[in-house]
Amino acid sequence: MNIVICKNYLEMSCQVAGIVAESIREHVDLKLGLPTGETPKAMYAELVKLFREGNLDFSETVTFNLDEYVGLSSVDPNSFRCFMNENLFDHINIRSSNIHFPDGISECFEDECQAYEDSIQKAGGIGLQLLGIGRNGHIGFNEPGDFIRDITSKVNLTEDTINANARFFKTPSEVPSTAVSMGIGTIMRAKSIILMANGDSKAQAVKEAVKGPITPHLPASLLRLHPDVTFFLDREASSLLEAK
Ligand code: GLP
Repeated sequence: MNIVICKNYLEMSCQVAGIVAESIREHVDLKLGLPTGETPKAMYAELVKLFREGNLDFSETVTFNLDEYVGLSSVDPNSFRCFMNENLFDHINIRSSNIHFPDGISECFEDECQAYEDSIQKAGGIGLQLLGIGRNGHIGFNEPGDFIRDITSKVNLTEDTINANARFFKTPSEVPSTAVSMGIGTIMRAKSIILMANGDSKAQAVKEAVKGPITPHLPASLLRLHPDVTFFLDREASSLLEAK
């Protein structure tokens, strides 16, 4: 795995946006796996800037988001779909038919999850998968546990993740406790993976992902088994890597 330590959040975001832009220029129909959360916001803002300056064309780009909350429709302001509209999709020339999202209000999650996997495969697989990381080392919504989920699945969120996500909701009781998430296998089948992490609150998870045992108890550690993965970190998130 590769590790790039950036001097701050903005530099990390611009470097990753630069790689995404370069990948889109090289492969106009790039299949891009996308995360939500605070971490990728400035990277998305940089992509929007590059588009507005006329330096980037998303007309053939195809996206697959990592996850969605169960119970929230695509127009719910707290849905990840709304987050993506606000932070990226509404500001670029991506075709709506090229945007893929797990359906949080499906009537049959088993079928929905399989259909999501099929649509990724039909598109030829994900070329570049971007990730954030949870404080407990989760990727997408693959929480720490005794086993690895291969494909997109309906998952239960841990207390820690529910608490971490409460900041986006008006009241804690509104925070969903289940979600639909790409599986670890879905993520690992991407040709290339970039994980971004910034801030002190991610330092421990980053340290364990990079230096600890490779285990489903720290899902991001499994990324070390991938042949092309790079962690982009700011100084705070990388601060425990040198420590014994
Ligand atoms: C959520 C998302 C993850 C994201 C993580 C970290 O749980 N499902 O994809 O990486 O939170 O979020 P943040 O970037 O806000 O710290």
